[in-house]
Amino acid sequence: MELWHIRGEQQLEGSCFVQGSKNASLPILAASILCPLRCELLHVPQLRDVDAALRILRHLGCKAEQSAGHVYIDSTQLSCSAIPHELMVEMRSSVIFMGALIARCGEARLSLPGGCQLGKRPIDLHLSALRQMGADIEENGDEISCRASHLHGAEILFPFPSVGATENAMLAACTARGETVIHGAAREPEIVALQMFLRSMGAAVGGAGTDTIRITGFQPKKHTACRIIPDRIVGATIACAAAASGGDVELKGVDPKHFSTVLYFLNQAGCDIISSTRSVRVRSAGKLYGIGALETAPYPGFPTDAQPVLMAALLKAKGQTVITENIFENRYRQVPELLRLGADISLDGREATIRGVERLRGSALTATDLRGGAAMIVAGLAAQGETVICDDGHITRGYEHFDRCLRSLGADVYLEY
Ligand code: UD1
Repeated sequence: MELWHIRGEQQLEGSCFVQGSKNASLPILAASILCPLRCELLHVPQLRDVDAALRILRHLGCKAEQSAGHVYIDSTQLSCSAIPHELMVEMRSSVIFMGALIARCGEARLSLPGGCQLGKRPIDLHLSALRQMGADIEENGDEISCRASHLHGAEILFPFPSVGATENAMLAACTARGETVIHGAAREPEIVALQMFLRSMGAAVGGAGTDTIRITGFQPKKHTACRIIPDRIVGATIACAAAASGGDVELKGVDPKHFSTVLYFLNQAGCDIISSTRSVRVRSAGKLYGIGALETAPYPGFPTDAQPVLMAALLKAKGQTVITENIFENRYRQVPELLRLGADISLDGREATIRGVERLRGSALTATDLRGGAAMIVAGLAAQGETVICDDGHITRGYEHFDRCLRSLGADVYLEY
């Protein structure tokens, strides 16, 4: 159990570098087994989810080591195509190993993945894509068994641009015979990052960042290297923390285009946003304003992962904000905890209405999920007195040394293990 102690109402000031992206690292780690490969990854965050992916790789017979931001993987000796339940449930992204294993071994045995409880989170689109490429898949309760003597290219049409299903389909398609076209693909920066890595491994893949991705061949390389893109959700979280605390923070090493919708709404709330290609400065004049209405949507829309942290930043904003959550059914789990700080939020199905209050008071909270926990930190930074967040490891699944990062910006935050 981890305890976050936050003494709020300190303005955040200064600059910080933003960690590498968790959600870009995880599919790239899975992709490293597509062919016998030695690879080096730079700027990989040290996180529980990354550690879980490295343990899966080692279980499969690969060498997988992390030293600070540097990860080395050697998948030449991969000897197993099954992932045990206890490794699968550690995180959501374990499901991306399904496409990679079937591509490399012609079979994969695994169970349903874990991750934050944000709603039903089915994997029907993942399975349907693999079936269209010729995989024979049996589902038995939580167990999934996939087999394919050979995968073939297919025209896949996703009715919804699922990030994970797009990643799984891209990986499986690399070793399929013939061309695969994914229509209705997710367009997130993490999909573009995966395409870059697959190209560096020898895959002929194009179109990532648009809704149509084509994979036309694979001439596997023996080694490759890649640098992980900056984490746009961590960038958004620090930007929201700066806004909530009335601060002035420069985020370095980020691509502001990756979270431009979040920056747009912070600007609407009254912050100055000064962007360059590799950094962004968020300067709050103190008072924020409600921003009317906003809704979450697949990229390039407003990211569902940034919804809880922006909500937290607006708790003391003058006026009202109405958020509509369109991606996950159960993504307001932070709300009952934020109410304990004195926030005024009402929920009606997918809609949350936030009416700004004059003051938040520190309280004892319990982290409910990764981004919900981050939202509690942001709210705690704006609250009077001490907030203590009791967390069963959610926040450290996605935020690297976050207490140190906030302290370097002048926050009074202390993490007790
Ligand atoms: C990824 C991100 C997560 C982010 C989410 C949406 C990672 C590790 N996680 O999760 O942080 O919140 O994208 O941006 O990258 N769906 C189906 N059937 C499927 C797959 C998805 O109905 O087979 C639905 C989900 O229930 C959800 C929506 O599609 O309502 C979005 O899910 P998806 O884009 O797949 O999210 P993840 O890949 O799980």
